[in-house]
Amino acid sequence: MKGLDIVRLEGVEKTYLMDRVKVPALRGINLSIEKGDYVSIMGPSGSGKSTLMNLIGALDRPTKGRVFIEGRDISKLSDNSLARIRREKIGFVFQQFNLIPRLTAIENVELPMWFAGVPKVQRVKRAAELLKLVGLGDRMKHRPTELSGGERQRVCIARALGNDPEIILADEPTGNLDTKSGEGIMRILEELNERGKTIVLVTHEREFGKRANTIIKIRDGRIVG
Ligand SMILES: Nc1ncnc2c1ncn2[C@@H]1O[C@H](COP(=O)(O)OP(=O)(O)OP(=O)(O)O)[C@@H](O)[C@H]1O
Ligand SMILES: [Mg+2]
Repeated sequence: MKGLDIVRLEGVEKTYLMDRVKVPALRGINLSIEKGDYVSIMGPSGSGKSTLMNLIGALDRPTKGRVFIEGRDISKLSDNSLARIRREKIGFVFQQFNLIPRLTAIENVELPMWFAGVPKVQRVKRAAELLKLVGLGDRMKHRPTELSGGERQRVCIARALGNDPEIILADEPTGNLDTKSGEGIMRILEELNERGKTIVLVTHEREFGKRANTIIKIRDGRIVG
């Protein structure tokens, strides 16, 4: 049903321009994701998975076609409007962590809430709760270099949840982790899905990808299954 789609892409193309040479990354994507769905995106390196995630996450605009978030066309919005949608609706978890090295775990988790204007007391309380949720209640004062890879990824998940986003986008969240830490991250994402969050996961790991309710296969910028 159309009304229930939290994300919809219509005829989306994305072409990057490199020294005036066109690099087609997405070549006509039609896609609907229902609220509360758990979707995995799989495909070879360079097939366009991260490009697709960037469009769903309002980090970028399509060259052609339209992207709807909760029914609203975001394809031509200004940078400020896109930033607002990202802040309010979307939580990002990326492979390369992107934590701020100088900040402690709890400060990293507080950051997006600071951007959203959440007052200090409330922010610290929520950040502490989120770190407990991901099993890092005893690591709040650690800086990223003082945490293991799996722990850092869990900080990222806590950070992604600060503003209570409807959609969680995870681009290879387990890519840098051993199997056990990877499994821990998958469990957290799946628990969030059970609580009603929409999850979109990019993964190279078949075993993880197969656990989603909807599996999207992408190749050369096209959905192939
Ligand atoms: N900023 C950019 N400028 C130019 N070309 C880009 C840019 N980002 C990606 N590309 C190109 O677009 C294509 C799709 O890239 P994308 O990062 O979406 O692939 P991917 O499926 O995420 O790959 P991987 O599994 O390796 O992460 C690739 O050919 C890539 O070289
Ligand atoms: Mg990628």
